Amino acid sequence: MCSPAPGLCRVMVLVAAALVSASVAAWEGGREEGVQYGQVGADVVLSCTDAHGRSGVEWRRDGAAALPEGSVLQNGDLVLHRAVLASTGAYSCHDGKGQILCSVSLQLGYLPGIPSVACRASDYENFSCSWTPGLETFLPTRYITTYRAKNSPAGLCVQDPARPRSCTVHKCEFWSSYRLNVTEVNPLGSRYRLLDVTMQAIIKPDPPEGLVVEPVPWAPRRLRVRWQYPASWPKEPHFQLKFRLQYRPIVHGSWSMVETVNLSEVITDAFSGLEHVVQVGAKDFLDAGNWSEWSAEVRATPETDILTMPRAEATAATSPEQLAEEPSLAPNAGPIEDRSDSLEKAAILVSLGIFAFFLLAVVLAIAVLVWLRRRKTSKDETQKHDFLAAAVHMKALPKAQIL
Ligand SMILES: *[C@@H]1O[C@H](CO)[C@@H](O)[C@H](O)[C@H]1NC(C)=O
Ligand SMILES: *[C@@H]1O[C@H](CO)[C@@H](O)[C@H](O)[C@H]1NC(C)=O
Ligand SMILES: *[C@@H]1O[C@H](CO)[C@@H](O)[C@H](O)[C@H]1NC(C)=O
Ligand SMILES: *[C@@H]1O[C@H](CO)[C@@H](O)[C@H](O)[C@H]1NC(C)=O
Repeated sequence: MCSPAPGLCRVMVLVAAALVSASVAAWEGGREEGVQYGQVGADVVLSCTDAHGRSGVEWRRDGAAALPEGSVLQNGDLVLHRAVLASTGAYSCHDGKGQILCSVSLQLGYLPGIPSVACRASDYENFSCSWTPGLETFLPTRYITTYRAKNSPAGLCVQDPARPRSCTVHKCEFWSSYRLNVTEVNPLGSRYRLLDVTMQAIIKPDPPEGLVVEPVPWAPRRLRVRWQYPASWPKEPHFQLKFRLQYRPIVHGSWSMVETVNLSEVITDAFSGLEHVVQVGAKDFLDAGNWSEWSAEVRATPETDILTMPRAEATAATSPEQLAEEPSLAPNAGPIEDRSDSLEKAAILVSLGIFAFFLLAVVLAIAVLVWLRRRKTSKDETQKHDFLAAAVHMKALPKAQIL
């Protein structure tokens, strides 16, 4: 059976397995004219009906007479026993005079493997799945991606040509479960992978955006941090995010972390004068799914502590070391968010004043106590004296007067 084009013949690839005839039918990508597909390891027959019964028929590969090892001519057809990948090429069949009777491009490859599929939701309404093929088939491949929610008809997981090997299911219900079917199809056959997906399990927001880190005036241990929702997560009362912050001085290795539901936070245990690096991540408010990736790093340096500067040490003779050694003196425990931080330094001075006052009070109290004790002893002595005098006096009185 020849095609209208002169010298171009429809060549059939017959592979032993019945499977292949079925799978070739499944390849709706279209049979290209003059292209045939074969399975590596199977016997592949290149057939040319025009050559049947003729003498002097000859097959060539890429125009040369050298044919793959193990190939035999059978009544004008070329049979490749246990075809190998390297036998891929352009074959042509010639009559005794060298005229082309048919030509075919043979592409050899493998049946599809089962793809690996992973899904992720970066908002609460849509989820995307991406996959990797189970094996390299060397053949043109396409994917059929469908899903089925409980008690609903099958829907299409939409593939975007701009993002190959991925698809998106739109307008999902957050609490429903979906069964995804990713089917890999090539001219030899198809294989599918099923994956059960729930939004709660796969939700993973994009990182928060617009991270800003600023020093707080007069507060050497503080950094004020703010950020915004990721643009892919429309703000809605029922679907909120919580956040976590990680930060460290760039010269240190280990991160500190705080969690918040707010879009800002004040770091209260930063190191004065050291440059810090800060990142923020997001997660569904009700703890569904996973934390986002960390946002890009932002750096900032808290104010230098003026109290520990040399000048201050020289003038304030009483307590700068105490302040430096005892961070608990600084009132920085607990999340103080809205209070004006610029008063912190004043607060430290006030607490120092209170401390000094307290010390003075204790000294005074001791002095008073000592004084009181002295007074009491002298009083006791006087009392003893009086008592003796009274006794003597009593003794001196006549008996009748005592009774
Ligand atoms: C889901 O995707 C649609 C279409 O891309 C978009 O209009 C919609 O805003 C998305 N939903 C959410 C919650 O982001
Ligand atoms: C998966 O999809 C393919 C292609 O649409 C279909 O042939 C196959 O039957 C489906 N498998 C299941 C279990 O639904
Ligand atoms: C979040 O901010 C509000 C006020 O804006 C505050 O009352 C609340 O304590 C903050 N929550 C946390 C966890 O910081
Ligand atoms: C989500 O977290 C779980 C365990 O907490 C982990 O097994 C899974 O791989 C994570 N998924 C993604 C997409 O990071």
